[in-house]
Amino acid sequence: MTHRIGIVGGDGIGPEVVAEATKVLDATDVAYTPVVFDLGGTRYLRDGEVLPPADLTAIRELDAVLLGAVGIPEVPPGVIERGLLLELRFELDLYVNLRPFVGPPSGHNDGVDMVVVRENTEGAYAGEGGYLRKGTPHEIATQGSVNSRFGVERCVRFAFELARTRERKHLTLVHKTNVLTFAGDLWQRTFTDVAQEYADVETAYHHVDAACIYFVQDPGRYDVLVTDNLFGDILTDLGGAVSGGIGRAASANLNPDRTGPSLFEPVHGSAPDIAGTGAADPRAAVLSAAMMLEFLGEDEAAVRVRDAVAKSEDVAGTTSEIGDAIAEWI
Ligand code: IPM
Ligand code: MN
Repeated sequence: MTHRIGIVGGDGIGPEVVAEATKVLDATDVAYTPVVFDLGGTRYLRDGEVLPPADLTAIRELDAVLLGAVGIPEVPPGVIERGLLLELRFELDLYVNLRPFVGPPSGHNDGVDMVVVRENTEGAYAGEGGYLRKGTPHEIATQGSVNSRFGVERCVRFAFELARTRERKHLTLVHKTNVLTFAGDLWQRTFTDVAQEYADVETAYHHVDAACIYFVQDPGRYDVLVTDNLFGDILTDLGGAVSGGIGRAASANLNPDRTGPSLFEPVHGSAPDIAGTGAADPRAAVLSAAMMLEFLGEDEAAVRVRDAVAKSEDVAGTTSEIGDAIAEWI
């Protein structure tokens, strides 16, 4: 079966790392048709379009999307992030943002092997809020967090299902229930309710600030974690930092119900400061492509890509030299 894969390089180092990811995909024997989209800040500066309806319609027809990174300094913060990336997450109902972290022992920890399940369509990202008296000394800005029982439950359930498949079968809920008493309570109750159906999964709860300490000092304690959108955003940059660097951190924005394509992207951003220098590590994008292969049922190819990335561990070259090395091992 030939997969139709949307390619969105985006901005900054995005196109560079995605080029290496497609190079690696080409080296596997997986049949796919790339459908290239010109989206991101550069396009926006050119013609004012962020995500034209025709592009969204075309994306809906695909089997998956591989995205590099979006956002450039010339465009105010949020325009591209909200208008393109978050719009895709909402429109395609990519309600799970799956971010695995694997790393060898280092410092005071004896190895990392954890997966963060980040809720990806609600919370602070829903964009609830607004201004009052904007621009005056009495200006007010509110920014809410939306948490639905439905949205929380489907994400928590996904995390339990994932934990069940893993050796340790352990799931930690991360939140801030001692301060965010409304949303935290909804998350906690939902977590406790769903846990009844998963007697085989051991559970724990950590406040997000405490989880930050454990991420640094003892990340090996974690197996699967589930958390809300904003905590998940912050925790997963830290997760990358403690497990081989953000240049290795891959992610999958999943529509687990498969009512449309899922989207795969490195956790890192567009890093405009190093764009065009060849300094970007393409491994996060390549590993995101491996997650895509797995989700498309191409398990064997996914394993080969991951093995090749592991072999490339000592290659210190430019973006394309690392991509070449990985493709060659495949
Ligand atoms: C991420 C990114 C995005 C987010 C940005 C680019 C909107 O940081 O995928 O983690 O905050 O979710
Ligand atoms: Mn982030």
